[in-house]
Amino acid sequence: MEVLINRLGARGDGISDTADGPVYVPFALPGEMVSVRVGKSRGDGRAAELRDVLSPSADRQAAVCRHFGPGENACGGCAAQHLTVGSYADWKRNVVSAALARHRIEIDVLPMISVPPASRRRVRLAFRNLASGLVLGFRSGRSDRIVDIAECPVAMPEIVALIPRLRDFLAGRVDRGELAITHTDEGADVVMFSRKEPDLDLRMDAPAFCADAGIARLAWSTDEAASNAEPPEPVIVLETPSVEFGGTTVHLPSDSFLQPTTEGETALRAFVLEAVGDAAVVADLYAGCGAFALPLAEADKTVTAFEGLAAQTDAIRRAGAGLKIAAETRDLVRQPLRPAELEGFDAVVLDPPRAGAAAQVELLAAGGVPCIVYVSCNPATFARDARVLIDGGYALDPVQPVDQFLWSSHLELASVFRRA
Ligand SMILES: C[S@@+](CC[C@H](N)C(=O)[O-])C[C@H]1O[C@@H](n2cnc3c(N)ncnc32)[C@H](O)[C@@H]1O
Repeated sequence: MEVLINRLGARGDGISDTADGPVYVPFALPGEMVSVRVGKSRGDGRAAELRDVLSPSADRQAAVCRHFGPGENACGGCAAQHLTVGSYADWKRNVVSAALARHRIEIDVLPMISVPPASRRRVRLAFRNLASGLVLGFRSGRSDRIVDIAECPVAMPEIVALIPRLRDFLAGRVDRGELAITHTDEGADVVMFSRKEPDLDLRMDAPAFCADAGIARLAWSTDEAASNAEPPEPVIVLETPSVEFGGTTVHLPSDSFLQPTTEGETALRAFVLEAVGDAAVVADLYAGCGAFALPLAEADKTVTAFEGLAAQTDAIRRAGAGLKIAAETRDLVRQPLRPAELEGFDAVVLDPPRAGAAAQVELLAAGGVPCIVYVSCNPATFARDARVLIDGGYALDPVQPVDQFLWSSHLELASVFRRA
């Protein structure tokens, strides 16, 4: 079947608006005539597979990675390497505007802050030992299949260089699992998620392997779903991995949250500090390991950091010794801060996971905090929560997109709400 692509969707798919409803065609661009194989139903339309681009768009460019594309063996990590720089930025900004428009919010979306290629400091890869050898990489976009990657233009070179080393080390040892790799100041921080516990051989060989490969810490967890409930068990710690947040060094718990790029984190931190301005008493909700809370305390503010994971609040407390900072472990979905608890804060910083912060935002809307700085990694849940704050009497400033997830359909943004 041949179709004309009319628009680009939030996931980066070309969409053809046909008489029978939308047809979603990954890797196709607006204005292109494409030949497709239409498959299963998807939402209000049908998913299709791109077979041929009959009339390429001027916005199309060659992908930078050999693993990108519509094939069955293509990596699912990137969705939009085929867009020119300008049209890629327009697409991402439009995703924010469209999400806001769905909640009747009309506000400027500022020019996007971008991060360079080869800057992603955290990746999560899957691996599986097969008769032919160990495959290690991202999952395919079309199935659960693991794409055995040889390159990744998104990740830091230090991480890419580690991939063949880990492939050799794990071959024949562990059936299957996932690897979370974070680049830190001391070297790589690696967590292996696998049902099977590492055997004695692996544990004996790990110190020499890690020293040679530049891995500061290797830990293991049974938890393949990464719910993070139980901290991973250290296999070998040559040095405790750390990062700098502003001027403060934080020793990271295994598999803790870290913004995906240093560049993106720096931009978000600058935005947060500027937006908080001269507010003296600040709450940082969903604080992670203190990427915002610690620099705010360093700026002489009195800060309370709220975070769901005890290991992360511990890390904040240790790093913040001597600063005016307190950290509380709290589940903000089950126990959001109530209006009475919010009293006394001049500003609240809010950086929830992709699900957003529905419960907390309801209570913020009912409270009187003068300034709320909302950092979000999901424009859809951000727009939903923004509508609640606006209905509660807050005014939203122009929104700042920060493209921390280069070439993927994900996007970070930062925003400020002020009580009128
Ligand atoms: C997007 S991260 C932001 C972290 C931090 N602001 C930063 O920039 O590094 C979200 C954080 O919320 C925490 N979190 C997730 N669900 C939570 C919940 N229900 N209650 C409290 N914290 C939660 C996660 O552990 C994670 O550290």
